[in-house]
Amino acid sequence: MENKTQGISRRELILDAGKIAAGAAILTAGTLGSVKEAAAYKYSSEFKYKKLDVDEVGRIAYENYFKRWCCSTVIAGLVEPLRKRVGGAWKDFPIDAYRWAHGGMAGWGALCGTMPGAGIVIGLVTNDTDIAEDMVNDLAFYYSYTELPTYEPKKIIKSEIKHKTIAGTPVCHISVGRWMRAEGVGFLTDARAERCARLSANIAMEAARMLNAWVDGRYKPRHERLYNVVANGITSQNNCRDCHGQYVPTPNETYDTLEK
Ligand code: HEC
Repeated sequence: MENKTQGISRRELILDAGKIAAGAAILTAGTLGSVKEAAAYKYSSEFKYKKLDVDEVGRIAYENYFKRWCCSTVIAGLVEPLRKRVGGAWKDFPIDAYRWAHGGMAGWGALCGTMPGAGIVIGLVTNDTDIAEDMVNDLAFYYSYTELPTYEPKKIIKSEIKHKTIAGTPVCHISVGRWMRAEGVGFLTDARAERCARLSANIAMEAARMLNAWVDGRYKPRHERLYNVVANGITSQNNCRDCHGQYVPTPNETYDTLEK
């Protein structure tokens, strides 16, 4: 898909965007010609990473879900084994400090909590703004375009479930809603909880796979960073019609209310 954005091909833009950190500002703050270059930067963190057993990460996440819900559950799947393997700062890491991010932020159905959960750990260990951005971007693609959940628990805790669905978005409400429609169950059911528990395991495992590759020097981003902003001219996903129906507005380069 070679979207034209203001006469410049997306590909050309992406090449430039690699050098830009404050991506969301690109298309709202001014014309493309005036984009300032701001490279990624490193930061320090005392949270170290050692390769994890991906299956163990999945199992811990799955088992934690029914108490901690999506965000803190993914954190637990990664942090609990890191406490054993690395120790140090992980020992005091407050896994439950992020529980509020469940249900798309305290039940508001916004961003599925699994990804910020993974992103918190990714950001703590990678020490580089661009690597963390790449990984979280890859994770959002994985979450949105994979049939999930594929995780199969050894011992089912709540319920058998039949369906896997493609969310098409990292938005909690749409993701869980599509699955509920396929499965024919309500939100406050054991089956739905089971689905989100398995999904949490999938996301924690995918994050562990990326971090394992990274610590070996083998992590390569699978997707272009800031793809959606650049392709669509607005922070977005590629599901415009889910909400706008047929009449998807074309993003303006600038709006009168913004200073140029
Ligand atoms: C989750 C729902 C949702 C999705 C998905 C979505 N939008 Fe929107 N978008 C909105 C809402 C709601 C507004 C506010 C518009 C209003 O209230 O009139 C908006 C506003 C906008 C605006 C600014 C208003 C304007 O007329 O200039 C643009 C541009 C836009 N969307 C483009 C897109 C594009 C392009 C996509 C797909 C890449 C997309 N949207 C996907 C819900 C969505």
